[in-house]
Amino acid sequence: MSKVTFKPGTMVNPVPVVMVSCGDMAGETNIITIAWTGIVNSEPPMTYISVRKSRHSHSLIEKSGEFVINLTTEKLAFQTDYCGVKSGRDVNKFEEQKLTPVPGQHVKCPMILEAPVNLECRVREVHQYPSHDMFVADILAVHADDSLFHENGKLELERAGLLCYSHGEYFGLQKHPLGKFGYSIMKPKTKKRMEAEARKKKQTRQDLQTKPKREQSGLDLQAKPKRKKDTEQKADTQKPFYQHSAGRKAGSAEKTGSKQKDKS
Ligand SMILES: Cc1cc2nc3c(=O)[nH]c(=O)nc-3n(C[C@H](O)[C@H](O)[C@H](O)COP(=O)(O)O)c2cc1C
Repeated sequence: MSKVTFKPGTMVNPVPVVMVSCGDMAGETNIITIAWTGIVNSEPPMTYISVRKSRHSHSLIEKSGEFVINLTTEKLAFQTDYCGVKSGRDVNKFEEQKLTPVPGQHVKCPMILEAPVNLECRVREVHQYPSHDMFVADILAVHADDSLFHENGKLELERAGLLCYSHGEYFGLQKHPLGKFGYSIMKPKTKKRMEAEARKKKQTRQDLQTKPKREQSGLDLQAKPKRKKDTEQKADTQKPFYQHSAGRKAGSAEKTGSKQKDKS
């Protein structure tokens, strides 16, 4: 197999794409689309966003030291793109895209109601690089739509229809995962159990789709959240962050009300 070599570039793909809201609910607010983001530490949970110094949002984040990462979805792809090609200097992106600003618990900037998951962040360090400043931040709280929780309390993030970005294009995630964390080294017995669980989950979903709404709400009211056995808990470092919230306590997640690949 031969390779074609070309000049250095930002060729890490796919990457997440998120809408970052910033500013102050009491004053100016804005949204910027960001692809240069990720997790930098698990305990405490820390993230970063890399923002060009010329962006309007750069000055807002620099001033307040706060921002919210709003995960985005296939349904929100259009709005995500718009917030990445228009500047808050010229338009009010919340108004133009009919996105709803809602207050967070820890930061003054708004969260986007329509986003399925919001991460409130406070800047801890700013690393200056030639084109971008990297805002390294603590994740202060995570909010997720209550519609994404199974009756057993588990966050089913796969139902959110999350979006990613690869080489200048937006993609939805596959509806059917190729495997779970650690599936490459899974014991046959565990594999069997997981397959049975997946079948049961699929059946429950189908049942919910076919049952009339009245019956569904009755079912929800009677449901008791189950606790995972301690032995089933994996080390935090081995699990994606959304699996840490298995066994969410009732009410703990509050319901609140041009191609760019080289432009990031
Ligand atoms: C998919 C996509 C990803 C982007 N990623 C980044 C990024 O990581 N950092 C950045 O500074 N700009 C990025 N941009 C560009 C900004 O979102 C864009 O310049 C935006 O209009 C800036 O808005 P503002 O001036 O209101 O802050 C991206 C744009 C798109 C469409």
